[in-house]
Amino acid sequence: MSATLGLAVTAALVCGVAGLLLILAVLPAMELCGVIRRLAKGDYRPVMLNGSPLFFCDTAVNLRQIAEMLERQKTLLAEEEFSLSMILESMTEGVVITGADLKIRLVNKAASSMFHLQGTQEGLLLHEVFMSHELLGVAQRAVGTGGVQQGELAFGIPGRGGRCHLVVTAAALKTPTMELPDGLLLVFYDVTRLRELEAVRREFVANVTHEFRTPLSVINGYLETLGEKGVSREMQRKSIAIMQRHGERLNRLIDDLLTISRMEERGLRLETAPTDIARILRDVIQQLEGQIADRGVAVTLEMPRELPSIDVEGYRIEQALSNLLANALRHGAPTGGKVTISAMQEGPDLAIRFRDNGPGIPLQDQQHLFDRFYRVGGDRARQTGGTGLGLSIVKNIITAHGGRVALESSPGEGSTFSVFLPLITLQE
Ligand SMILES: Nc1ncnc2c1ncn2[C@@H]1O[C@H](COP(=O)(O)OP(=O)(O)O)[C@@H](O)[C@H]1O
Ligand SMILES: [Mg+2]
Repeated sequence: MSATLGLAVTAALVCGVAGLLLILAVLPAMELCGVIRRLAKGDYRPVMLNGSPLFFCDTAVNLRQIAEMLERQKTLLAEEEFSLSMILESMTEGVVITGADLKIRLVNKAASSMFHLQGTQEGLLLHEVFMSHELLGVAQRAVGTGGVQQGELAFGIPGRGGRCHLVVTAAALKTPTMELPDGLLLVFYDVTRLRELEAVRREFVANVTHEFRTPLSVINGYLETLGEKGVSREMQRKSIAIMQRHGERLNRLIDDLLTISRMEERGLRLETAPTDIARILRDVIQQLEGQIADRGVAVTLEMPRELPSIDVEGYRIEQALSNLLANALRHGAPTGGKVTISAMQEGPDLAIRFRDNGPGIPLQDQQHLFDRFYRVGGDRARQTGGTGLGLSIVKNIITAHGGRVALESSPGEGSTFSVFLPLITLQE
């Protein structure tokens, strides 16, 4: 009986101890294991331990701190990743990142649009996507040297004429302690506009040189003749007259070049004031009276009794309109010339037109006519004595006033050059 009792007591004791162990150690340990599993899976939410942490008090506290630290790191990492991708996507420079094997890891939005790429390029080889020997060379040199390399790419733009020019800088991704680079950073900078401007400048210098050379070589030629012995008085007179004419042409060239450069320098800063266009037109006709009479051209001015005054820089507008009348006289009909100048309000604009009955302008020349130095018939037209800069000055002046120029002409039917100036100038 007492043995049975003893056994029962022992069993009860064992059960009690086991229960106690279960409550104090096994359950908290299981809870801790659960939390560790959760952390291992990347769930770093705050750790709440409910079981009695008698034996695991410190461990539980440490675990909570680890979870909090991991959660903070995760947030920081996500923030960094977000701002990095924001920076890359909002950059105007194209960015491509590859591995050392030149397999693409990242292409930003600007690079995609520069190269007209669609879909994802990640995992593809650099030259498969960009198909440029120059680019491949720059990339390979950067990986090979572990440094920075630069090159320039030029390619046709699909869907529109012209070429796109990109400067590419390739930098190996490598810390000083690394022997080989881990990858490559390629940055593309669009220099198309810059290259276009350089080409315009080169062409301009070549044109100016050409324009100056002709009168100068004529003057030099006649100076040599005059230096010879026994030149007749008649020849002297003729030579001086020719040299004077070419000297005047050089003067006109310099004046026109200065006007163009001043207009470009000043940009839109015009000194405007309410101006009476009717008065300007009458002045322009009066200034060119000599040429009108010499060529026997009949000039008529048509305009309503009242014209609204417009806010322009009078001196510049007069310069533009005088160029258009001079052209109508110079390039119009050689005999029996008629020029009609009209001014009237048309919608929001004041329209001023110069209509002549000259030879007209072939269609293929019309789109280039307002370019500097462009003349119909190329070199032959130089004989008329102009500089080839007049219409470019006209366009410059009118567009600076917020207006526009237009041309209607067909060969054999004369030409009409129109200027539209806004009646109301918008406040800057
Ligand atoms: N009214 C016109 N009729 C025919 N051709 C014209 C007329 N106005 C201009 N052109 C053509 O446009 C060219 C450019 O004109 P412009 O720039 O004023 O230069 P320029 O008068 O000095 O030759 C002229 O050389 C001429 O060939
Ligand atoms: Mg002219």
